[in-house]
Amino acid sequence: MSQSLRRMQYAVRGEVVMKADQLAAQGKEILYTNIGNPHQVGQSPITYYRQVLALCDLPAECGVDHPNVYDMFPKDVVARAREYRKDIGPSGTGAYTHSQGILAFRQHIAEYIQNRDGYKSYPGNIFLTNGASTAINMVLQGLLASNNDAVMIPIPQYPIYSALISKLGGRQVGYELDEDLNWAVSREELESKLETAKSNGLDVRALAMINPGNPSGNVMTHCDIQTLTEFCDTHGIVLLADEVYQTNVYAENSEFVSAKKVALDCNLKNLQLVSFHSTSKGLIGECGRRGGYMELHHIDPYVQSQLYKLASAELCSGVVGQLMTSLMVKPPKKEDASYKLFKQENDNIYNGLKERAEKLVHGLNQIPGITCVPAEGAMYAFPTVQVTPKAIEAAKEQGTTPDNLYALSLLEMTGICVVPASGFGQKKGRVGFRTTFLHPETLKAIDLFAKHHEQFTKDYS
Ligand SMILES: Cc1ncc(COP(=O)(O)O)c(C=O)c1O
Repeated sequence: MSQSLRRMQYAVRGEVVMKADQLAAQGKEILYTNIGNPHQVGQSPITYYRQVLALCDLPAECGVDHPNVYDMFPKDVVARAREYRKDIGPSGTGAYTHSQGILAFRQHIAEYIQNRDGYKSYPGNIFLTNGASTAINMVLQGLLASNNDAVMIPIPQYPIYSALISKLGGRQVGYELDEDLNWAVSREELESKLETAKSNGLDVRALAMINPGNPSGNVMTHCDIQTLTEFCDTHGIVLLADEVYQTNVYAENSEFVSAKKVALDCNLKNLQLVSFHSTSKGLIGECGRRGGYMELHHIDPYVQSQLYKLASAELCSGVVGQLMTSLMVKPPKKEDASYKLFKQENDNIYNGLKERAEKLVHGLNQIPGITCVPAEGAMYAFPTVQVTPKAIEAAKEQGTTPDNLYALSLLEMTGICVVPASGFGQKKGRVGFRTTFLHPETLKAIDLFAKHHEQFTKDYS
């Protein structure tokens, strides 16, 4: 079988999670904080989206054309579903679509991007995909031609990058985000890692950035992004901008700025950029719908045609995911009957995330031996934990990492399931974990984190 597949690792569903599932099967109560999967941990779907989706799927006579439809659905929901049914065409939601996705939906996305950035966006450059994951896979597949081809990835990173690069037989070159500088990266760090890669005979094809950060939780400033866009522009490296958390910004002084906007603000004429977005995150959290898109910017038309061929070989992305993506970028308007409830539901989710992000980080920082940079965005806190030399020794003896040992001990003692930080990559010598703040019970976990840390330190002192 494929040795690249055997080498591939994906910590978010790795050893600690498997152990948690085992314990859960034995009846232990587990607080899953290992994965950004909001509905799995109790987040409710937003009514408007589900209503429109239902009316798109139902036969017309049971839905949009039913005589009592207005008793069950707000007027604007019915109108939107009718529009979508026209966009999809008479074959309905059960037929394959254009390989890049339904044109009208790509037009909605282009309008959204244009309003967000103030620069033109073209539906022809947009591909609807089964979540961002598929888009990332497609682009990496297009980029990696030999096992000397490399992709620069942030350390720490969301492990889909390391996993797919190794699956596709490419090489990863980590560039370190500086925890002391709110997880920013310097131009010096980028240049130095590129130099080393070149001297090792690697050909760096692309660089991935994640903003807002997973697992780091930082929201990049215009200036942080400029460092990356200019670096890629100078060296002819394709920039992969993972912006799936673009609406998950909680810190008062932070705002999301897209890599495309920065590139165009700075007039970078050569930068080749692919940006990703998803319906799995934000306040929607519909991970199971598998909706998302990528926008290609300044990508050579021949390369684009090859990506189109790849998309065609997969036929098309799921139609429900395509619908979800259009809904994400085209929510109800203020004057619509649905708006009040829509806003209320969105505000509830947002306020809950913001409150838990702040309180969780604050709580973690109160625990002697744990420090955590504020989670300005995304869905995660990524604390550093201090462990004793004995714990490091014990991990070595057991052939594991100190943070794996720590996470397993946390799980066994408290039932909290986190991901060891080594699964994302981290500075040598650092020990930590990633936890989400999605779960409504997140704040109750703070006490348990404290008790466990004290016990773990005692056990290995
Ligand atoms: C940074 C980042 N990119 C991409 C994805 C993939 O999301 P999806 O494929 O569900 O759109 C995730 C999921 O957690 C993520 O955190």
